[in-house]
Amino acid sequence: MPLTPHGRGEGPSPGLQSRTALRYGTPESDVFFVESVCEDPDVIAENIVQVKLGSPDYIDCNTEEVVEDFMKRIKCYENSYQPLDEVLDRDLSYIKIMDVGRRYLVNQVQDHIQSRIVYYLMNIHITPRSIYLCRHGESDHNVKGRIGGDSGLSGRGKEFAKCLEKFIQEQNIKDLKVWTSQMKRTIQTAEAVAVPYEQWKALNEIDAGVCEEMMYEEIQGHFPQEFALRDQDKYRYRYPKGESYEDLVQRLEPVIMELERQENVLVICHQAVMRCLLAYFLDKSAEELPYLKCPLHTVLKLTPVAYGCKVEPVFLNVEAVNTHRDRPENVDTSRMPEEALFTVPAHQ
Ligand code: G3H
Repeated sequence: MPLTPHGRGEGPSPGLQSRTALRYGTPESDVFFVESVCEDPDVIAENIVQVKLGSPDYIDCNTEEVVEDFMKRIKCYENSYQPLDEVLDRDLSYIKIMDVGRRYLVNQVQDHIQSRIVYYLMNIHITPRSIYLCRHGESDHNVKGRIGGDSGLSGRGKEFAKCLEKFIQEQNIKDLKVWTSQMKRTIQTAEAVAVPYEQWKALNEIDAGVCEEMMYEEIQGHFPQEFALRDQDKYRYRYPKGESYEDLVQRLEPVIMELERQENVLVICHQAVMRCLLAYFLDKSAEELPYLKCPLHTVLKLTPVAYGCKVEPVFLNVEAVNTHRDRPENVDTSRMPEEALFTVPAHQ
Protein backbone atom coordinates (compact mmCIF):
# COMPACT_ATOMS: atom_id res chain seq x y z
CA MET A 1 0.00 0.00 0.00
CA PRO A 2 1.42 3.40 -0.89
CA LEU A 3 2.55 5.55 1.96
CA THR A 4 0.32 8.59 2.35
CA PRO A 5 0.68 11.54 4.71
CA HIS A 6 -2.07 10.34 6.97
CA GLY A 7 -2.50 6.70 6.01
CA ARG A 8 -5.65 6.89 3.89
CA GLY A 9 -4.00 5.52 0.82
CA GLU A 10 -6.02 2.68 -0.72
CA GLY A 11 -7.40 2.72 -4.22
CA PRO A 12 -6.72 4.91 -7.24
CA SER A 13 -7.13 8.62 -6.73
CA PRO A 14 -5.91 11.73 -8.53
CA GLY A 15 -3.50 12.52 -5.69
CA LEU A 16 -2.16 9.02 -5.32
CA GLN A 17 0.68 9.15 -7.79
CA SER A 18 2.24 12.21 -6.20
CA ARG A 19 1.70 10.86 -2.72
CA THR A 20 3.44 7.63 -3.70
CA ALA A 21 6.46 9.77 -4.53
CA LEU A 22 6.88 10.49 -0.80
CA ARG A 23 7.94 6.91 -0.43
CA TYR A 24 10.93 7.48 -2.69
CA GLY A 25 12.15 10.51 -0.86
CA THR A 26 10.46 13.42 -2.68
CA PRO A 27 10.20 16.08 0.02
CA GLU A 28 6.59 16.81 0.88
CA SER A 29 7.17 20.53 0.27
CA ASP A 30 8.06 19.82 -3.40
CA VAL A 31 4.67 18.29 -4.14
CA PHE A 32 1.82 20.50 -5.24
CA PHE A 33 -1.54 18.76 -5.49
CA VAL A 34 -4.20 19.77 -7.98
CA GLU A 35 -7.68 18.41 -7.52
CA SER A 36 -10.49 19.20 -9.91
CA VAL A 37 -13.95 18.30 -8.67
CA CYS A 38 -16.80 18.67 -11.11
CA GLU A 39 -20.40 18.05 -10.13
CA ASP A 40 -22.04 20.08 -12.89
CA PRO A 41 -24.02 17.45 -14.90
CA ASP A 42 -23.88 19.49 -18.13
CA VAL A 43 -20.09 19.81 -18.00
CA ILE A 44 -19.69 16.11 -17.20
CA ALA A 45 -21.99 15.04 -20.06
CA GLU A 46 -20.22 17.37 -22.54
CA ASN A 47 -16.85 16.04 -21.42
CA ILE A 48 -17.96 12.43 -21.91
CA VAL A 49 -19.21 13.25 -25.40
CA GLN A 50 -15.95 14.99 -26.34
CA VAL A 51 -13.56 12.47 -24.86
CA LYS A 52 -15.29 9.08 -24.78
CA LEU A 53 -17.34 8.89 -27.98
CA GLY A 54 -14.23 7.98 -29.97
CA SER A 55 -12.92 5.53 -27.38
CA PRO A 56 -12.44 1.88 -28.48
CA ASP A 57 -14.67 0.93 -25.50
CA TYR A 58 -17.64 2.50 -27.24
CA ILE A 59 -17.39 1.46 -30.88
CA ASP A 60 -20.89 1.29 -32.40
CA CYS A 61 -22.57 2.95 -29.41
CA ASN A 62 -24.75 6.01 -29.69
CA THR A 63 -24.19 9.15 -27.59
CA GLU A 64 -26.89 8.34 -25.04
CA GLU A 65 -25.54 4.84 -24.41
CA VAL A 66 -22.02 6.20 -23.99
CA VAL A 67 -23.06 8.90 -21.52
CA GLU A 68 -25.18 6.47 -19.52
CA ASP A 69 -22.47 3.82 -19.35
CA PHE A 70 -19.71 6.27 -18.47
CA MET A 71 -21.83 7.85 -15.72
CA LYS A 72 -22.03 4.35 -14.18
CA ARG A 73 -18.26 4.06 -14.42
CA ILE A 74 -17.84 7.41 -12.63
CA LYS A 75 -20.09 6.08 -9.83
CA CYS A 76 -17.68 3.12 -9.44
CA TYR A 77 -14.65 5.42 -9.39
CA GLU A 78 -16.31 7.46 -6.64
CA ASN A 79 -16.03 4.48 -4.26
CA SER A 80 -12.26 4.67 -4.28
CA TYR A 81 -11.80 8.37 -4.95
CA GLN A 82 -9.81 10.10 -2.27
CA PRO A 83 -10.39 13.85 -2.11
CA LEU A 84 -8.07 16.36 -0.50
CA ASP A 85 -9.33 16.97 2.99
CA GLU A 86 -9.39 20.48 4.43
CA VAL A 87 -8.49 19.29 7.93
CA LEU A 88 -6.35 16.18 7.36
CA ASP A 89 -4.44 17.77 4.48
CA ARG A 90 -4.03 21.21 6.00
CA ASP A 91 -0.22 20.95 5.80
CA LEU A 92 -0.16 20.05 2.10
CA SER A 93 0.24 22.51 -0.75
CA TYR A 94 -2.72 22.29 -3.08
CA ILE A 95 -5.40 23.91 -5.15
CA LYS A 96 -8.85 22.39 -5.32
CA ILE A 97 -10.88 23.55 -8.30
CA MET A 98 -14.64 23.23 -8.02
CA ASP A 99 -16.86 22.99 -11.11
CA VAL A 100 -14.19 24.12 -13.56
CA GLY A 101 -13.49 27.40 -11.85
CA ARG A 102 -16.71 28.35 -10.10
CA ARG A 103 -14.83 28.11 -6.79
CA TYR A 104 -11.24 27.45 -5.66
CA LEU A 105 -9.59 26.39 -2.45
CA VAL A 106 -5.90 27.25 -2.31
CA ASN A 107 -3.78 25.94 0.56
CA GLN A 108 -0.15 26.44 1.66
CA VAL A 109 1.37 27.93 -1.49
CA GLN A 110 5.10 27.57 -0.86
CA ASP A 111 7.04 29.23 -3.67
CA HIS A 112 7.03 31.17 -6.91
CA ILE A 113 6.38 28.14 -9.13
CA GLN A 114 3.40 27.08 -7.02
CA SER A 115 1.94 30.59 -7.12
CA ARG A 116 2.38 30.66 -10.93
CA ILE A 117 0.53 27.33 -11.14
CA VAL A 118 -2.29 28.77 -9.05
CA TYR A 119 -2.43 31.94 -11.17
CA TYR A 120 -2.52 29.86 -14.35
CA LEU A 121 -5.22 27.49 -13.12
CA MET A 122 -7.35 30.38 -11.94
CA ASN A 123 -7.19 32.04 -15.34
CA ILE A 124 -8.03 29.21 -17.73
CA HIS A 125 -11.65 28.64 -18.67
CA ILE A 126 -13.77 26.27 -20.75
CA THR A 127 -16.12 28.77 -22.39
CA PRO A 128 -16.33 27.65 -26.03
CA ARG A 129 -14.23 29.93 -28.21
CA SER A 130 -11.68 29.97 -31.01
CA ILE A 131 -8.26 31.49 -31.36
CA TYR A 132 -7.33 32.51 -34.89
CA LEU A 133 -3.61 32.64 -35.59
CA CYS A 134 -2.08 34.07 -38.74
CA ARG A 135 1.00 35.87 -39.94
CA HIS A 136 0.97 39.33 -41.49
CA GLY A 137 0.44 39.48 -45.24
CA GLU A 138 3.50 38.81 -47.37
CA SER A 139 6.06 41.60 -46.84
CA ASP A 140 8.61 43.17 -49.17
CA HIS A 141 11.35 41.45 -47.16
CA ASN A 142 9.58 38.05 -47.48
CA VAL A 143 9.62 38.41 -51.25
CA LYS A 144 13.37 39.07 -51.21
CA GLY A 145 14.07 36.21 -48.79
CA ARG A 146 15.20 38.57 -46.03
CA ILE A 147 14.49 37.83 -42.36
CA GLY A 148 13.48 40.35 -39.69
CA GLY A 149 13.41 44.09 -40.36
CA ASP A 150 10.28 46.20 -40.46
CA SER A 151 9.19 46.30 -44.08
CA GLY A 152 5.65 46.91 -45.33
CA LEU A 153 3.28 44.59 -47.19
CA SER A 154 3.83 43.51 -50.79
CA GLY A 155 0.95 43.76 -53.28
CA ARG A 156 -0.08 40.16 -52.50
CA GLY A 157 0.27 40.92 -48.79
CA LYS A 158 -2.25 43.74 -49.13
CA GLU A 159 -4.57 41.45 -51.06
CA PHE A 160 -4.35 38.88 -48.24
CA ALA A 161 -5.24 41.59 -45.71
CA LYS A 162 -8.45 42.32 -47.64
CA CYS A 163 -9.29 38.61 -47.83
CA LEU A 164 -8.68 38.34 -44.10
CA GLU A 165 -11.29 41.02 -43.50
CA LYS A 166 -13.81 39.09 -45.60
CA PHE A 167 -12.96 35.82 -43.84
CA ILE A 168 -13.37 37.37 -40.40
CA GLN A 169 -16.72 38.90 -41.36
CA GLU A 170 -17.98 35.58 -42.70
CA GLN A 171 -17.00 33.79 -39.50
CA ASN A 172 -19.38 36.09 -37.62
CA ILE A 173 -17.36 35.87 -34.42
CA LYS A 174 -18.81 37.16 -31.16
CA ASP A 175 -16.75 39.92 -29.46
CA LEU A 176 -13.60 39.27 -31.45
CA LYS A 177 -10.40 40.82 -30.10
CA VAL A 178 -7.61 41.48 -32.60
CA TRP A 179 -3.98 41.60 -31.51
CA THR A 180 -0.93 42.57 -33.55
CA SER A 181 2.76 43.12 -32.89
CA GLN A 182 4.26 46.61 -33.09
CA MET A 183 5.69 45.93 -36.54
CA LYS A 184 4.50 47.66 -39.67
CA ARG A 185 3.49 44.48 -41.50
CA THR A 186 1.10 43.20 -38.82
CA ILE A 187 -0.37 46.67 -38.27
CA GLN A 188 -0.97 47.15 -42.01
CA THR A 189 -2.69 43.75 -42.08
CA ALA A 190 -4.94 44.62 -39.13
CA GLU A 191 -5.79 48.05 -40.59
CA ALA A 192 -7.32 46.31 -43.61
CA VAL A 193 -9.40 44.06 -41.35
CA ALA A 194 -11.08 47.27 -40.18
CA VAL A 195 -11.73 46.31 -36.57
CA PRO A 196 -10.15 47.83 -33.45
CA TYR A 197 -6.90 46.10 -32.58
CA GLU A 198 -4.37 46.07 -29.78
CA GLN A 199 -0.61 46.18 -30.37
CA TRP A 200 1.67 43.97 -28.26
CA LYS A 201 5.43 44.52 -28.28
CA ALA A 202 5.75 40.97 -26.96
CA LEU A 203 4.33 39.74 -30.30
CA ASN A 204 7.21 41.23 -32.32
CA GLU A 205 9.18 38.78 -34.49
CA ILE A 206 12.23 36.98 -33.09
CA ASP A 207 15.17 39.38 -32.96
CA ALA A 208 17.81 38.00 -35.33
CA GLY A 209 20.48 40.36 -33.88
CA VAL A 210 23.46 40.76 -36.21
CA CYS A 211 21.58 38.76 -38.88
CA GLU A 212 18.56 41.11 -39.02
CA GLU A 213 17.46 41.84 -42.62
CA MET A 214 19.86 39.30 -44.11
CA MET A 215 19.02 36.51 -46.52
CA TYR A 216 19.88 32.98 -45.32
CA GLU A 217 22.53 32.93 -48.08
CA GLU A 218 24.11 36.07 -46.55
CA ILE A 219 24.07 34.57 -43.04
CA GLN A 220 25.88 31.51 -44.43
CA GLY A 221 28.33 33.83 -46.23
CA HIS A 222 29.12 36.05 -43.23
CA PHE A 223 28.58 33.72 -40.27
CA PRO A 224 28.84 30.08 -41.47
CA GLN A 225 29.64 28.79 -37.98
CA GLU A 226 26.65 30.56 -36.45
CA PHE A 227 24.39 29.27 -39.22
CA ALA A 228 25.47 25.67 -38.49
CA LEU A 229 25.15 26.12 -34.74
CA ARG A 230 21.59 27.31 -35.24
CA ASP A 231 20.82 24.23 -37.31
CA GLN A 232 22.27 22.04 -34.55
CA ASP A 233 19.89 23.37 -31.89
CA LYS A 234 17.45 25.83 -33.38
CA TYR A 235 15.34 26.10 -30.23
CA ARG A 236 18.21 27.11 -27.93
CA TYR A 237 20.44 28.94 -30.39
CA ARG A 238 20.57 32.69 -29.66
CA TYR A 239 21.51 35.04 -32.51
CA PRO A 240 24.49 37.25 -31.52
CA LYS A 241 22.88 40.40 -30.04
CA GLY A 242 19.48 38.82 -30.66
CA GLU A 243 17.13 36.13 -29.36
CA SER A 244 16.59 32.38 -29.37
CA TYR A 245 13.26 30.59 -29.69
CA GLU A 246 13.66 29.81 -26.00
CA ASP A 247 13.86 33.57 -25.27
CA LEU A 248 10.83 34.13 -27.44
CA VAL A 249 8.78 31.55 -25.54
CA GLN A 250 9.56 33.46 -22.33
CA ARG A 251 8.69 36.80 -23.92
CA LEU A 252 5.34 35.36 -25.04
CA GLU A 253 4.31 34.05 -21.63
CA PRO A 254 2.13 37.09 -20.76
CA VAL A 255 0.48 36.89 -24.20
CA ILE A 256 -0.31 33.21 -23.65
CA MET A 257 -1.66 33.89 -20.18
CA GLU A 258 -3.93 36.61 -21.58
CA LEU A 259 -5.01 34.34 -24.45
CA GLU A 260 -6.08 31.80 -21.82
CA ARG A 261 -8.20 34.47 -20.10
CA GLN A 262 -9.83 35.79 -23.28
CA GLU A 263 -12.48 34.27 -25.52
CA ASN A 264 -12.35 34.81 -29.32
CA VAL A 265 -9.06 36.35 -30.42
CA LEU A 266 -7.36 36.87 -33.78
CA VAL A 267 -3.58 37.13 -33.39
CA ILE A 268 -1.80 38.63 -36.40
CA CYS A 269 1.85 37.85 -35.81
CA HIS A 270 5.05 36.50 -37.33
CA GLN A 271 6.49 33.12 -38.32
CA ALA A 272 8.61 32.44 -35.23
CA VAL A 273 5.97 33.90 -32.89
CA MET A 274 3.19 31.87 -34.48
CA ARG A 275 5.27 28.70 -34.08
CA CYS A 276 5.62 29.38 -30.35
CA LEU A 277 1.90 30.05 -29.87
CA LEU A 278 0.97 26.99 -31.92
CA ALA A 279 3.42 24.79 -30.02
CA TYR A 280 1.82 25.88 -26.76
CA PHE A 281 -1.71 25.03 -27.88
CA LEU A 282 -0.71 21.77 -29.61
CA ASP A 283 1.74 20.71 -26.91
CA LYS A 284 4.72 20.41 -29.26
CA SER A 285 8.26 19.75 -28.05
CA ALA A 286 11.17 22.21 -28.10
CA GLU A 287 12.65 20.20 -30.98
CA GLU A 288 9.49 20.39 -33.11
CA LEU A 289 8.60 24.01 -32.32
CA PRO A 290 11.08 25.88 -34.58
CA TYR A 291 10.10 23.74 -37.57
CA LEU A 292 6.29 23.99 -37.29
CA LYS A 293 4.80 24.98 -40.62
CA CYS A 294 3.12 28.38 -40.47
CA PRO A 295 2.77 29.48 -44.09
CA LEU A 296 1.87 33.02 -45.09
CA HIS A 297 -1.76 33.76 -46.00
CA THR A 298 -3.11 30.83 -44.00
CA VAL A 299 -5.24 31.27 -40.89
CA LEU A 300 -5.16 28.53 -38.28
CA LYS A 301 -8.42 28.31 -36.37
CA LEU A 302 -7.75 26.70 -32.99
CA THR A 303 -10.69 25.48 -30.99
CA PRO A 304 -9.92 24.08 -27.54
CA VAL A 305 -11.64 20.77 -26.85
CA ALA A 306 -11.28 18.44 -23.85
CA TYR A 307 -7.61 17.45 -23.55
CA GLY A 308 -6.49 19.20 -26.72
CA CYS A 309 -7.12 21.65 -29.46
CA LYS A 310 -8.78 21.23 -32.86
CA VAL A 311 -6.84 22.90 -35.69
CA GLU A 312 -8.44 24.03 -38.94
CA PRO A 313 -6.07 25.59 -41.49
CA VAL A 314 -7.74 28.02 -43.88
CA PHE A 315 -5.71 29.17 -46.89
CA LEU A 316 -7.17 32.47 -48.06
CA ASN A 317 -6.30 31.83 -51.68
CA VAL A 318 -3.68 34.52 -52.20
CA GLU A 319 -0.33 33.15 -53.36
CA ALA A 320 2.71 33.99 -51.25
CA VAL A 321 6.38 33.19 -51.11
CA ASN A 322 7.42 30.20 -49.00
CA THR A 323 9.57 31.30 -46.03
CA HIS A 324 9.99 27.89 -44.36
CA ARG A 325 13.54 26.50 -44.25
CA ASP A 326 13.77 22.89 -43.10
CA ARG A 327 16.69 21.56 -41.06
CA PRO A 328 19.34 20.41 -43.55
CA GLU A 329 20.79 16.94 -43.20
CA ASN A 330 24.32 18.16 -42.55
CA VAL A 331 24.48 20.51 -39.55
CA ASP A 332 28.22 20.19 -38.97
CA THR A 333 30.24 23.42 -38.80
CA SER A 334 32.57 22.01 -41.46
CA ARG A 335 29.80 21.51 -44.05
CA MET A 336 29.95 22.96 -47.57
CA PRO A 337 27.91 26.12 -48.25
CA GLU A 338 25.62 24.27 -50.67
CA GLU A 339 24.79 21.74 -47.93
CA ALA A 340 23.83 24.60 -45.60
CA LEU A 341 21.71 26.27 -48.26
CA PHE A 342 20.05 23.13 -49.60
CA THR A 343 16.71 23.80 -47.83
CA VAL A 344 16.52 27.58 -48.34
CA PRO A 345 13.18 28.36 -50.01
CA ALA A 346 13.18 30.06 -53.40
CA HIS A 347 12.94 33.85 -53.49
CA GLN A 348 13.65 36.84 -55.74
O1 G3H B 1 13.73 35.19 -38.54
C1 G3H B 1 12.56 35.22 -38.90
C2 G3H B 1 11.80 34.08 -39.37
O2 G3H B 1 10.47 34.35 -39.55
C3 G3H B 1 11.96 32.88 -38.49
O3 G3H B 1 12.42 31.95 -39.32
O4 G3H B 1 13.45 30.82 -37.37
O5 G3H B 1 12.78 29.54 -39.41
O6 G3H B 1 14.74 31.10 -39.48
P1 G3H B 1 13.41 30.79 -38.87
